[in-house]
Amino acid sequence: MCGIVGYVGHQQARDVVIEGLRRLEYRGYDSAGIAVIDSGTIASDKRAGKLANLEQALAEHPLPPSSTGIGHTRWATHGAPTDLNAHPHQGQKGRVALVHNGIIENFRPLRAELEAAGHSMLSATDTEIAAHVLETELLRTDDLTLAMQAACRQLEGAFTLVAVDAEDPSRVVAARRNSPLVVGLGEGENFLGSDVAAFIEHTREALELGQDQVVTITADGVEVTDFDGNAAEGKRYHVDWDLSAAKKDGFDWFMRKEIFEQPRAVGDALLGRHSGDGQLQLDELRLSEHDLRQVDKIVIIGCGTANYAGLVAKYAIEHWTRIPCEVELAHEFRYRDPILTSNTLVVAISQSGETADTLMAVRYARLQKAKVLAICNTNGSTIPRESDAVIYTHAGPEIGVASTKGFLTQLVACYVLGLYLAQVRATKFGDEIAAVVHELEKMPAHVQQVLDGAEAVYALARKHAGTRSVLFLGRHAGFPVALEGALKLKELAYIHAEGFAAGELKHGPIALIEEGLPVFCVMPPQGRDQLHDKMVSAIQEIRARGAHTLVLVEEGDDDVDDYADEIIRLPVVPTLLQPILATVPLQLFACELATVMGHDVDQPRNLAKSVTVE
Ligand code: F6R
Repeated sequence: MCGIVGYVGHQQARDVVIEGLRRLEYRGYDSAGIAVIDSGTIASDKRAGKLANLEQALAEHPLPPSSTGIGHTRWATHGAPTDLNAHPHQGQKGRVALVHNGIIENFRPLRAELEAAGHSMLSATDTEIAAHVLETELLRTDDLTLAMQAACRQLEGAFTLVAVDAEDPSRVVAARRNSPLVVGLGEGENFLGSDVAAFIEHTREALELGQDQVVTITADGVEVTDFDGNAAEGKRYHVDWDLSAAKKDGFDWFMRKEIFEQPRAVGDALLGRHSGDGQLQLDELRLSEHDLRQVDKIVIIGCGTANYAGLVAKYAIEHWTRIPCEVELAHEFRYRDPILTSNTLVVAISQSGETADTLMAVRYARLQKAKVLAICNTNGSTIPRESDAVIYTHAGPEIGVASTKGFLTQLVACYVLGLYLAQVRATKFGDEIAAVVHELEKMPAHVQQVLDGAEAVYALARKHAGTRSVLFLGRHAGFPVALEGALKLKELAYIHAEGFAAGELKHGPIALIEEGLPVFCVMPPQGRDQLHDKMVSAIQEIRARGAHTLVLVEEGDDDVDDYADEIIRLPVVPTLLQPILATVPLQLFACELATVMGHDVDQPRNLAKSVTVE
């Protein structure tokens, strides 16, 4: 939520900052703003709406050349998305400009204090309060780094702050608590960003910051301290993807590009995690085999799409390991006094690694002495850093707000974890595990085969473009697929979409069926006799009541042909792995339907990619 950029160095700060904001716009797009230092003053512009509005304003009234600047693209929390509420915000005397991601929880008493001391605020934001606090400290210390440390000691809540001092163009100072910030290390220049996309075209060397740290960048150096001014160290790392991954490469949307990257991503998620003979190897896992043998309960936490990956994982993990497995929305988890012990393994799934709800649940679980394993796509992000162990999904950067390759690779990581546990605890024979691994190895080719049928799915999307509602039905591991299909459609096409377990139909949802209502049905593979036949009955029942049925069914299964208005064929795979394939047509459908409806697929209204506030 909110993209933040800071720069100091030999290039034009205004260009570097705007380019960085363009790459971070997926994190929030309610408004955008920039500030640079111009001979002892701050030159700034900020506009409500997408970054394009700011760029147009800057084309008409360019900012002066400068070596030092900051920028922000916003997802509004306090105050409506207006020009006035956009960041950067300045202090009372206009000496400090500040951008912020997060929520300052004690902004009300701070505001009262400041107003009592004669300050007046221009906006309704908590950020402006932080700017006034910071400037007050700057006027006292005449040193932006010391002022930032002092300001942070007064602020409560979650925040990344990045600031400049009009009288000191040599540095940009930032701080983080419970909110993301990374440093980009260049030659004669340094960068700050909410994530590495902000500076990936300039450098792939990055510095990860810890909790409650202040960082000062100059053209030639980086200095890290804690909030009390004690020296601290960031962790240096090399970013393993480059600028091309952050470009659309001829696709109309990042989302569509990312859907088509899935064969590669699924392959990469499995790469190096098994030996030729089908033995799982998870050398990177920081949990010992002894720890894994002690586990007597697994709790999977996540939000949105990550939660649905967890729901699929439950079917696989319980089947393979016989360990009881619960799946819970991260934001519900810690508020219900869950039963956790040192033998509980909490699996936190998060593409971004920054989702505040999931992070707070991770901290809660660790306080209760549970072991936490993160399944994450973003190297160096907070959730894996604060977990006991991590399995990275290696999907590459996901920029489209709707998760696609993030989800498929989370599924692969969950399967790998389940199989590894089964291997360590000997709940499955080696050849059974090897057989599943062998099926997983074939998945990239299968996903590609589904993608090869994209045109037919697009035609269906165009045909249903006027619909007001779509339902999704599934059973067993196909149930979370139905939920995921509905979520994609809601967030991209803004229409009513709901996923159900097909067995639930007669307990209420069948009342929604009316003439012409499109209903996607995920058919269980034929191997699961009972479920397969029950799903055929469910499809017959809704068809008899007027539903327009769109059935995803494996090749060679013609049991449903008479009751399907449209058929999408999927390669034959084991039931537990079918979600990897069945999800893909639903992603394509939502992407195309939203495109036809004229929506911005990469930046759906009201959403932000990484939800860094609770
Ligand atoms: C839906 C979507 C969201 C995220 C959720 C969790 O397409 O992207 O539902 O899955 O906000 O995000 P992460 O995985 O980053 O924790």
